[in-house]
Amino acid sequence: MPAKSVNDIVALCKRRGFIFTGSEIYGGLGGAYDYGPYGVELMRNIRNAWWNAMIYARNDIEGLDAALISNRLMWKYSGHEGSFSDPLVECKKCGARMRQDKMKDPTKCDNCGGTDLTEPRAYQLMMGLSIGAMADGAINAYLRPETATTTYVNFKNVLDSKPHKLPFGIAQIGKAFRNEISPRGFVFRMREFEQAEMQYFVNPNEDEKYFEYWKQTRLDWWKNVLGIPAEKLRFLPHEKLAHYAKAAVDIEYAFPDGFDEVEGVHNRQDFDLGSHTKSQNEFKLAAHVLENKDSTTKLSYSDAQTGENFVPYVIETAMGVNRAMLAIMIEAYEEEDLGDGKSRTVLKLKPWLSPVKAAVIPLVRNVPEIVDLSNKLVDDLRKLHIGKIELENSGNIGKNYRRHDEIGTPVCITVDHQTLEDGTVTLRYRDSMEQIRIKTEDVAKQLLEIVNQ
Ligand code: GAP
Repeated sequence: MPAKSVNDIVALCKRRGFIFTGSEIYGGLGGAYDYGPYGVELMRNIRNAWWNAMIYARNDIEGLDAALISNRLMWKYSGHEGSFSDPLVECKKCGARMRQDKMKDPTKCDNCGGTDLTEPRAYQLMMGLSIGAMADGAINAYLRPETATTTYVNFKNVLDSKPHKLPFGIAQIGKAFRNEISPRGFVFRMREFEQAEMQYFVNPNEDEKYFEYWKQTRLDWWKNVLGIPAEKLRFLPHEKLAHYAKAAVDIEYAFPDGFDEVEGVHNRQDFDLGSHTKSQNEFKLAAHVLENKDSTTKLSYSDAQTGENFVPYVIETAMGVNRAMLAIMIEAYEEEDLGDGKSRTVLKLKPWLSPVKAAVIPLVRNVPEIVDLSNKLVDDLRKLHIGKIELENSGNIGKNYRRHDEIGTPVCITVDHQTLEDGTVTLRYRDSMEQIRIKTEDVAKQLLEIVNQ
């Protein structure tokens, strides 16, 4: 049974070093979390799986890693400065501030039930910066609220340096920042989070075909790669479309409190490339960088065969990496009754997702030969380059097993007196708790098989 409540995951994350409250010893900071030793590994494995599927497994998508801080003008002309906002209402009784479109009942305060609320006002979500000695506190830059725009402005750079025929895509994984009114749901809605987004540039008359293609491709990835059961995933088409979109759908996962968004697929038409072409040229003309309109740079595509020059349409896939990690942990979480009043918590992660691939445990730590053999086995397994291999050099074996069950280590390997006699070690499997003895020289092959499952 997966976790019944996100609170189970919150407790596990803190206890076992996946996620901590940001700025914790100074009282925390709403919507900011720090990823601990096992959280960083799990996030890295999710990122790698996405990057493998989007870039290494294909010929038509390139990678990019753009700056997190960007010129204010980029966000002015992308439309974000004017319209990237949420409707904010305030309760006149208790002072609580809420996002109107997420209130349980828009006529009543979520906090005290009061009905005397202010009219909604547009609350800007971007975090402004004042950069450089001459800035004098005025906003001249923003932390990016999405990766997408920082991809569009590099469309020409990528295409000129690596020619592609349409359709082709540019993918980015990286941080995004939003001054969310009410961060909630642990890492579900944060002010600093991570996105894995891909912008696919297509001929305008093929936009609907590729919108359908990417909807299905991304849903299949959640099912077949991450292993989320099909009945826990669904599409939710947007009824109200963003200013740039012709069509949009959310991929939703069944969180313990109900279905909610983990990824979006959007048909953004030529809105972004078109508006950056136009506004960039206006800006250059105003700054006298350009002599006349004819010499402006177009974020457009020239078809070598037809000679046509046009602004491509964009199909975007936009995943939240933190939300993916949360969904994966909820699915993998199990509390097992072992009988005789005993129980265990176990994270049944797919082994390639596990933060630690194997733990080597010297059963007796005051016998140098056993410690030496354990160290040698760790060195050998690290040469497989499959991720983190841990040497357990404290705690008793029961505690070691419990910890590795909770962080999802697929296998623990114990070195003991018998190893000195016959060269075998004990392999203990996380899910079945079955223990077998195998020859030390066979461990690497066995572990590779487990991790590649
Ligand atoms: N470029 C399009 C875009 O940014 P979005 O739906 O606003 O679209 C994409 O964001 C994904 O990023 C969402 O599906 C969600 O998984 C994640 N996301 C958005 N806001 C978030 C937040 N405040 N905290 C955590 N994840 C967030």
